[in-house]
Amino acid sequence: MSHREGGASFKVGQGFYRRTSQVGRDLAILAAQLEKGDRGQLRVLDSMAGCGVRSLRYWLEGGADWVLANEGNPEMNGILQENLGPMLAAQAGEIQHRDANRVFFQCYDRRDYYDLVDVDSFGSPVPFLNTSLWAVRLGGLVYLTSTDGRTATGHEREQSLRVYGAYGRSHPSGHEQGLRLLIGSTQQQAASKGLGVIPLFSLYAHSVYRVMLRLVSGQQLTEANYGFLAYCHDCGEYETVTWRQLGRISPCSRDGQSRVLSGPLWLGALHDRQYLHRMQTLAQQQGWPSRVKLLQTMIAEADLPPYFYGLGEIGRRSGRDMLPREQLLARLRARGYRSSATHITPQAVKTEADLATCVAIARE
Ligand SMILES: C[S@@+](CC[C@H](N)C(=O)[O-])C[C@H]1O[C@@H](n2cnc3c(N)ncnc32)[C@H](O)[C@@H]1O
Repeated sequence: MSHREGGASFKVGQGFYRRTSQVGRDLAILAAQLEKGDRGQLRVLDSMAGCGVRSLRYWLEGGADWVLANEGNPEMNGILQENLGPMLAAQAGEIQHRDANRVFFQCYDRRDYYDLVDVDSFGSPVPFLNTSLWAVRLGGLVYLTSTDGRTATGHEREQSLRVYGAYGRSHPSGHEQGLRLLIGSTQQQAASKGLGVIPLFSLYAHSVYRVMLRLVSGQQLTEANYGFLAYCHDCGEYETVTWRQLGRISPCSRDGQSRVLSGPLWLGALHDRQYLHRMQTLAQQQGWPSRVKLLQTMIAEADLPPYFYGLGEIGRRSGRDMLPREQLLARLRARGYRSSATHITPQAVKTEADLATCVAIARE
């Protein structure tokens, strides 16, 4: 059976293909198009190619001049040869069947760096966070994926320590925490090499976490953007906590105990707003209205606080019917609080106001 996605037709065979992940592939294609437009050339390493849908789309739609489609399972060779046949015939790529880490180090050894390295792993991408950076050109992009929601959302705290070197606790913004643990950990790994990463976009959709990061030569990690997030299970308030404040965290003023601390994690912007605007223009030109809408939400939330409040929680605490999201946002903005929806869930708001203020506004 043949599938269609974007401009690509392909077969899946015994391989892995999830249609709901199209949103992550669409956004990657927009980024690839921008990189190609900016540099005039684009070489992509699709390190875990599966049936090859990404490789094909990077070539057909992203404008890639060369795609190395690597898939660890050699049994996928037949389907990859078939799906990527036109690309291979155009001498615009090759297929390999090696462990992704060997491919990354081979790139480094040969000084054969890629403009975009896509790491679409199962579970946590942590075995590849550091190593994938070795294959990326300075100024190039790395696109990381995690499907390990339990660790990301604080339900496997020791596992979180092992893989991210960070303690993730459970709280209502758990999925945003998943993105921030991933960015923070990669940022720290890049910093240990004297480098930095800049998040271009971060996406949580259909239980998958994805971050597109630009590798840059200057250090980006600071005390301000890599720190901790405190949450009180009693009053529902969040607070960012710096390393210097660690020994001086006050208990919650209401019950003196219910605060939990996650981190270290990324506290900086989730997305590069200017880059998202450019992606949005391309999405518009391609006639992708749902992506235009998604990018609009991401633009609005880009540099708001690193958490959100659920509408249900605000409604419950206010003792009133739940206020429609847009109405609550309008009231918050009218009072001068920068506020937006979050792309992570339609049932929440991101705002500079604290929860108590949201609840008071919802009561009016
Ligand atoms: C999530 S699937 C990839 C799906 C594909 N990128 C897509 O968009 O449909 C992950 C793939 O990575 C392969 N894989 C897992 N570990 C690998 C490794 N260490 N090196 C290379 N490939 C690996 C698996 O065989 C599997 O096909």
